[in-house]
Amino acid sequence: MTTATTTPAAAGARAADPLRLIDVDHVRFYVGNAKQAAHYYAHTFGFRIDQFSDLTVGSRDAASYLLTQGNIRFVIQTDLTPTGAIGEEVRRFGDGVKDVAFTVADAQRAFERAVKNGAVPDREPETLSDERGSVTSASIKAYGRVTHTFVSRTGAYDLEQVRAGGRLSPAFHPTGPLRINDYNVQHPCGLQWVDHCVGNVEQGKMNHWVEWYENVLEFKLFKHFDDKDISTEYSALMSKVMDSGFGVIKMPINEPAEGKKKSQIQEYLEWHDMTPGVQHLALRTNDELASVAELRRRDVDFLTLPDSYYEIVWDRVDATLREHGLEPVKEDHQKIRDLGILVDADDQGYLLQLFTKPLQDRPTLFFEIICRRGSQSFGKGNFKALFEALEIEQQRRGNL
Ligand code: FE2
Repeated sequence: MTTATTTPAAAGARAADPLRLIDVDHVRFYVGNAKQAAHYYAHTFGFRIDQFSDLTVGSRDAASYLLTQGNIRFVIQTDLTPTGAIGEEVRRFGDGVKDVAFTVADAQRAFERAVKNGAVPDREPETLSDERGSVTSASIKAYGRVTHTFVSRTGAYDLEQVRAGGRLSPAFHPTGPLRINDYNVQHPCGLQWVDHCVGNVEQGKMNHWVEWYENVLEFKLFKHFDDKDISTEYSALMSKVMDSGFGVIKMPINEPAEGKKKSQIQEYLEWHDMTPGVQHLALRTNDELASVAELRRRDVDFLTLPDSYYEIVWDRVDATLREHGLEPVKEDHQKIRDLGILVDADDQGYLLQLFTKPLQDRPTLFFEIICRRGSQSFGKGNFKALFEALEIEQQRRGNL
């Protein structure tokens, strides 16, 4: 999280803004078996299985697990009944991200403002409370199967308390001691927060959703190195980046484009019931090499780039950094190559990034592990090499 320095007057104006986002409250996944998925994310990505809600604590319809790491909170949820909406979505889309929830000062006011701005309501405001405090939430529909929930918190459920290990809501209960949680403290993966969340939408719909984020959530188009439409022989996609402001999150929106080969976005849509959804979550680390080394040790399945990538990358990156009078890449070049990490630079610095293969059997959701050293862009210089690597994977899946 970055916090911009502001004048008291500007801070007051922000506080009065109902759509001022405070943080990514949590990301909710719908899955076929939450108990098993929770253990997958704990064992392979180092998340703490922190809290749960299931039959044993009176939840009759769904089971949920809160996974935490740094300032990342995932809620992994499944249906307990044959007729629930989660089960229906899992049948259509497989496991994936359902909701990206934002902490705000007043969820009811944020919801009303978003609806006034044109949002379609998904769930009206409701408050869960007990003697310790309250959590108010309300949801709007975003692209495809995705929703955004506004969450406001009081008392023991205040965000600061939640960040410090407090309960997510009155419905959640602490898990007992788990050896995997102790193991993850001793062997940290170092993931700190959600840097960006990328949505895939249908061809011709990118600008519609860009305008939706501008109008409904009052985001701004991110003006930077990467803000132009991307459409190359290799990428066959177009992308624009929406920025929440306040250093909370960026939300790129991709659409497929005509290319020589089938767009990776089109492949996603075809395995996601032709419905838009979240393509990847980028998780930020302060030490890319340590994070990737630990994740590889845990058998995380990363995209592999050809060795030839490293024969040209340093010339490109060093030239860009030199051109802008910036410090060279300080991480060990050989270790970067050994770990298969990608590097890119822009006029503000460089970034290190690496992408996992799909996290479930369908070629849909994946993670990016990213470390920024000044750069605020998204690795545009890696697109050609990356998309060639992705095409090899699409070919292996029979989807090219
Ligand atoms: Fe990304």
